[in-house]
Amino acid sequence: MTQDELKKQVAQAALRYVVEDAVVGVGSGSTVFAFIEYLSTIKNKIEGAVAASEASAERLKKHGIRVFDLNSINQLQVYVDGADEITEHLDMIKGGGGALTREKIVAAVAQTFVCICDASKLVPVLGKFPLPVEVIPMARSYVGREMLKRKAQPVLRENFRTDNGNLILDCHGLTILDPPALEAEIDGIAGVVTNGLFARRGADVCCSGPRMG
Ligand code: 5RP
Repeated sequence: MTQDELKKQVAQAALRYVVEDAVVGVGSGSTVFAFIEYLSTIKNKIEGAVAASEASAERLKKHGIRVFDLNSINQLQVYVDGADEITEHLDMIKGGGGALTREKIVAAVAQTFVCICDASKLVPVLGKFPLPVEVIPMARSYVGREMLKRKAQPVLRENFRTDNGNLILDCHGLTILDPPALEAEIDGIAGVVTNGLFARRGADVCCSGPRMG
């Protein structure tokens, strides 16, 4: 099976978690785009979606799925999103597409986080994939120096702004043995908006992983 076919397979598997007559949270990335295709086949059975990126919102609307502002939603039962790396404990690195902050916000609201990723994303230890850190532009150099102290090599993502108008530092060379602790530590650096570790609120199920739903 090609990687594209594997993405489609996990995207389709996530449909079983979608709750009828409810709003579903939708992340971003190519696997999520495949999920949106499948979601469009049951669009009459859901109320609509909340999107974690402008690109996903546009794609949802193109498929005739109503997009809600997160502030107009009281509760979100399910959030479906991809990952760049995931462990057997369902800790993740996300943000390869740069949507980490909004993804983390929607994930925080959701009762169940369904991760959809092909098996190539499963790792014993997080860190081979460069950890994205979203920073306020004026804090770029300071946060870069702070990441160097933590044994990472930060690289500014070129020609890129997040949906929030910020920058991304992709931090290479980390071996992340305690994901929740590092997540909290990096978030504590002044000027950091969010980092791409999703461990304090990891996934609840993984459609290709150890707890395959
Ligand atoms: C975007 C993300 C994506 O979920 C992650 O990058 C995986 O993307 P893909 O499904 O294209 O491999 O976190 O910010």
